[in-house]
Amino acid sequence: MSERRAQLDHPLIAVPSHDELAEQLFVRDLKLYVMTRIEPVQARIAAAEQKASAGANNTAAALRERMGQHESFSTWLSLKRESQRQLWSSVAASVERQAGDLEDLAAIEAPLGSVRTDPDFAVPDYIRRGDIHLMPGGNAHDDGSILQGAMMDRGGAVYMLGRNGGMLNDLRGQTAMAHVLTRFPDLNPARILDMGCGIGTSTVPAATCFPDAEVHGIDVGASMLRYAHARAEHLGAGVHFSQQSAEKTDFADGSFDLVFSCVMFHETSQAATMAIIAESRRLLRPGGVAVHLEVPLLHDNSDAWVELSGELEAQYNNEPNWRGALSADYRSLFEAAGFSSVETGYQATSPAARSGPFRYGPESEGVFRSWFVASGVA
Ligand SMILES: C[S@@+](CC[C@H](N)C(=O)[O-])C[C@H]1O[C@@H](n2cnc3c(N)ncnc32)[C@H](O)[C@@H]1O
Repeated sequence: MSERRAQLDHPLIAVPSHDELAEQLFVRDLKLYVMTRIEPVQARIAAAEQKASAGANNTAAALRERMGQHESFSTWLSLKRESQRQLWSSVAASVERQAGDLEDLAAIEAPLGSVRTDPDFAVPDYIRRGDIHLMPGGNAHDDGSILQGAMMDRGGAVYMLGRNGGMLNDLRGQTAMAHVLTRFPDLNPARILDMGCGIGTSTVPAATCFPDAEVHGIDVGASMLRYAHARAEHLGAGVHFSQQSAEKTDFADGSFDLVFSCVMFHETSQAATMAIIAESRRLLRPGGVAVHLEVPLLHDNSDAWVELSGELEAQYNNEPNWRGALSADYRSLFEAAGFSSVETGYQATSPAARSGPFRYGPESEGVFRSWFVASGVA
């Protein structure tokens, strides 16, 4: 292993050359500029527009029409989409260049965990129909390699602008575990399932937090799962990954103590979300716990700008299920699936050290400072 790789957070992540790094840093800074300098201006213009038209048509569609008269609005939308496309193209080129090296690193001798993919797996339509986040090929692209997973790993870290745990990109999983320790401090799970695990960035924190547990991760993408397996092994975590839809798995009734997911619902359909919550309930033994974490931007569509922002995210970042997931009533969905002690709230981003201190409450502390969490007991 090269000295450069050995210094990384985990040695499997694609290492950019000088020029590739310059490009990726440029894209990161462009995205930061769009998000922190241009977007707040749009919010101010929207507030002024809403004030000026008080009493008149204040729907998201009407607001979009009025925003369109401001030149900076189109600039914002164009830069938002273009910077996202640039992100993936800069990462894809870098990953493809080192494909052989990455495949060699992914060949694990004497693994602690396992990976099971299914050539006959039927990828759900809501995953297949678009390249979510504009990632070429989408979540389930599979050519038999680990490269889609490698692209997601490097791209995800750049996409999160370093705010989700740097190159490990693991603060969501840490926060889900912090929620378990906050609300269910006596739970000592022997079997844990991470639904929609992707490349396992949130699964490894579960394995680290509960080192004696048997940890499973499922997703619909075979390439991501192969990569997740190798990545977890490089990080010293034995996780069992399998290609399955969280809507209906092949695990036995009551076979888990803890079922969790991180930001999966906004990539599924509303019907799938209901099926997944019901499947979580089926898989838990009596007294077992479900924790489903989402982006802390839930809204009831009562503010035209919030609603419009969600629609723009859906449209310009290929997130067709964004609106449904962010306006769902998770408490009702959990209760309808048979969960008790259901709570919804915001868990402050914190490492899952057993010492805490953990903060959980009804108010969001802001994006990347807290995550929305719905939890309940089977
Ligand atoms: C935004 S990613 C999050 C990945 C990971 N949980 C994390 O925190 O980094 C959402 C993941 O959910 C997966 N997913 C969506 N619908 C699914 C389903 N029905 N069954 C299993 N995985 C699903 C996607 O393939 C994707 O990997």
